[in-house]
Amino acid sequence: MCNLDCYRMPGSASISCLGPWPKDVGIIAMELYIPSQYVDQTELEQFDGVSAGKYTVGLGQAAMGFCSDREDINSLCLTVVQRLMERNGLSYDSVGRLEVGTETIIDKSKSVKTVLMQLFEDSGNTDVEGIDTTNACYGGTAALFNAVNWVESSSWDGRYALVVAGDIAVYATGSARPTGGAGAVAMLVGPNAPLAFERGLRGTHMQHAYDFYKPDMVSEYPVVDGKLSIECYLSALDRCYSVYRNKIHAQWQREGSEKHFNLEDFGYLVFHSPYCKLVQKSLARLMLNDFLSHPNPNTEVGPFTGLEAFRDVKPEETYFDRDVEKAFLKASSELFEKKTKPSLLISNQNGNMYTPSVYGCLASLIAQKTAAQLAGQRIGVFSYGSGFAATLYSLRITQDHTPGSNLDKLVSSLSDLQVRLKSRKKVSPAVFSENMKLREETHHLGVYVPRGPVDDLFPGTWYLTRVDDKHRREYARRPVECEVNAEAEIVCSSTEVTQQVPHIHVTKIN
Ligand SMILES: CC(C)(COP(=O)(O)OP(=O)(O)OC[C@H]1O[C@@H](n2cnc3c(N)ncnc32)[C@H](O)[C@@H]1OP(=O)(O)O)[C@@H](O)C(=O)NCCC(=O)NCCS
Repeated sequence: MCNLDCYRMPGSASISCLGPWPKDVGIIAMELYIPSQYVDQTELEQFDGVSAGKYTVGLGQAAMGFCSDREDINSLCLTVVQRLMERNGLSYDSVGRLEVGTETIIDKSKSVKTVLMQLFEDSGNTDVEGIDTTNACYGGTAALFNAVNWVESSSWDGRYALVVAGDIAVYATGSARPTGGAGAVAMLVGPNAPLAFERGLRGTHMQHAYDFYKPDMVSEYPVVDGKLSIECYLSALDRCYSVYRNKIHAQWQREGSEKHFNLEDFGYLVFHSPYCKLVQKSLARLMLNDFLSHPNPNTEVGPFTGLEAFRDVKPEETYFDRDVEKAFLKASSELFEKKTKPSLLISNQNGNMYTPSVYGCLASLIAQKTAAQLAGQRIGVFSYGSGFAATLYSLRITQDHTPGSNLDKLVSSLSDLQVRLKSRKKVSPAVFSENMKLREETHHLGVYVPRGPVDDLFPGTWYLTRVDDKHRREYARRPVECEVNAEAEIVCSSTEVTQQVPHIHVTKIN
């Protein structure tokens, strides 16, 4: 018999595993970690000798975060999990499932999840299900689905699930290198969530393709067919949207409505973002889908004005059709500004993080809106991982945006993203390139002591101290100092290196 009905989800009544089916299961809290150093994409264009504007305008990228040899996938996930737990005042025994989504593999057997269990040691809680999930950038979404499914299942014991998506996205020199990045996102999953999964509304498409993969076990770099990956991404988007719409139409018909779903039914849309320009093209692509599936679109007035020439195009022939792309980018530009652009802050400034990319977009959107602007909206979430696996699903934001509500807490916890971005250190492309070379030469070494400076890391960051002759990795944590965030809150903790602090003290100073 379960004895865990003492756990209290924030803002909710106590939860019992013997109670009714949990309601509004979804994301309760989020935390994001980005590296403390970045390279400017304009400077990188000059350094790489490409035409000015290729990375900044053509790809839509302003800056790219990266890690020195001091950070690996374990340290990124340790950092983001501990930060989430501290900032939300959570105890480690309140977590019953921990899932990791990553494609940054440093061990072919031992999971990142088991490394994270070190954080749980003081609590004595070892009853934590879940393990790592891998399929390129989709692993985080698969991990999130596992967590949501667990809370909604007969296996649930009344505790939270924790989901971590983390990756170091690095490419060999060449055209893909500017689409790198690094980071991690942690999400607390449970009932009565401010971002609740809409039941039955997932459109998935999975297919075999060699668009991006990592067959070389000693290299961090993938083999990429860039153009094919774009085609796979856009074709997956078409298929997922079609399945999603069929499912929502079926739900609406059961409720007696013959309404036709279109982009206006999403309050916001976030996408996996390998680079921002592809996201803008993706929204345009969804508008093309709306146009082609509309039984009788008005091309005289309204959003489809002037698009009659494209009425008979075949979607599968238009992935790189300039005329179609241009026309629908123009037609969807207002929608993009309103529904998607705010989600691109982290992607534009930090680059592709692989698994956390789409959740960095979700965090960016939340960070740049007020709770009142978000309340009641439906967010469409498109997740894509090469190989390839993709899903379009939707989250319904709670109506309750009162001060102190779960939504209000979530929004305030992410409100310092701009401050965090501004506090990073810019380094030259030459230094970035040296760091990439160092990672290339050393990331798989058996006996290794990293050289990267520790003082450059953000307070509270876990870092690699050494790898021994049996490839066992050891980590330490930079002390957490006082950080002043955008809301003039002060977040303090007296942590020593490697010491865990289960609670934080949040004090208003104004
Ligand atoms: C995305 C990727 C294929 C682009 O590399 P590339 O082929 O060298 O880049 P392109 O020559 O197509 O240039 C990129 C864009 O910048 C534009 N561009 C080039 N020079 C420019 C300039 N000086 N000013 C403005 N735009 C410019 C190009 O026209 C192109 O725009 P388009 O995509 O609308 O056609 C490459 O970075 C890559 O492989 N990335 C990793 C895989 C990936 O992210 N895939 C996405 C799906 S998962």
